[in-house]
Amino acid sequence: MLGIESTAHTLSFGMVDMDGKLSSSFSNLFRPEEGGIHPREAADHHCLKASNLLENIMSTEFFNSNEIEAVAFSQGPGLGPCLRVGASIARTLSKVWNVPLIGVNHCVAHIEIGKNQTGCKDPVLLYVSGGNTQVIASSRNKYRVMGETLDIGIGNMLDKFARTQGIPFPGGPEIEILANRFALNHDINANFINLPYGVQGMDIGFSGMLTAAERKIIDGNSLESICWSLQEHAFASCIEVAERAMAHTGKNELLLGGGVACNSRIREMAEIMCEERGAKAYWPEKRFCIDNGTMIAELGRLLHKVGYSTNLSDSAINPMLRTDHTEIIWD
Ligand code: ATP
Ligand code: FE2
Repeated sequence: MLGIESTAHTLSFGMVDMDGKLSSSFSNLFRPEEGGIHPREAADHHCLKASNLLENIMSTEFFNSNEIEAVAFSQGPGLGPCLRVGASIARTLSKVWNVPLIGVNHCVAHIEIGKNQTGCKDPVLLYVSGGNTQVIASSRNKYRVMGETLDIGIGNMLDKFARTQGIPFPGGPEIEILANRFALNHDINANFINLPYGVQGMDIGFSGMLTAAERKIIDGNSLESICWSLQEHAFASCIEVAERAMAHTGKNELLLGGGVACNSRIREMAEIMCEERGAKAYWPEKRFCIDNGTMIAELGRLLHKVGYSTNLSDSAINPMLRTDHTEIIWD
């Protein structure tokens, strides 16, 4: 199964064999020279990089075009112009190789690759990426969103804060380095800087803590201290909602997914919370937390096994697709 990811900044091709053995993805990340991601510029980037990436994956040992059973692509959610590039490549390849086309839900793919990698069975998922922040649990054939961001995604918040400090996209990894440096060199309890904490019931707001963090820098606090503080507030709010979801559903597995799940501090918080309630925390390898083609291939594989495919006439992209729109028809 070939999987194509193109929802936003990353164009990526990945593969999985029919037993669920994952290959590495071949990816290229669009980094804007300044400002945020302009959808058309990201789509142009994907067009430029596509043939090289495809050549690279096709020249690996894992790849044999005669053995490709289907081509999966991210049908949504995401940026329209970017999604269209991946969908066009997928339609072409499915035609050339005469194999089924499978449109998949990007958010659900983040969940399924985590389950494949970690072996957890019925987790509460904390999906923390650039565009999305959701606490999810499966119930009656759908992944239900139990809580989510009220404004921007957590990664988006970190990236925006980073941008105001001259740190290029993606800002999350650099914020992690600065925060770790702060924790290493300071008494974090004595130097903790309060920011607005955005939990509202099962939902979370991040824009208040972002604005406050920017002000704290203007007030003269060090960048490292604010990076630490921002991570603490943002991650604690997600873990709090995830814990409540576990308590109410009775589930005892927590799975992290999405690009922000690369962060060692959110992993540590997840582990502490789970230990305290006799549950277990899981996360996939970093290369499968960030957007990647392999996760699209993995959900494609699960759908293919139950005979699902997408007709050409139904293969239009859906930028507004949600996690809970997709019915779980696979095992
Ligand atoms: P989605 O479409 O699922 O919302 P996305 O397009 O935002 O995904 P991902 O690759 O899942 O893409 O996530 C990217 C985000 O992850 C960026 O905001 C980036 O800053 C953040 N990120 C990556 N590594 C880290 C890290 N170590 N710590 C914090 N944030 C991180
Ligand atoms: Fe993603």
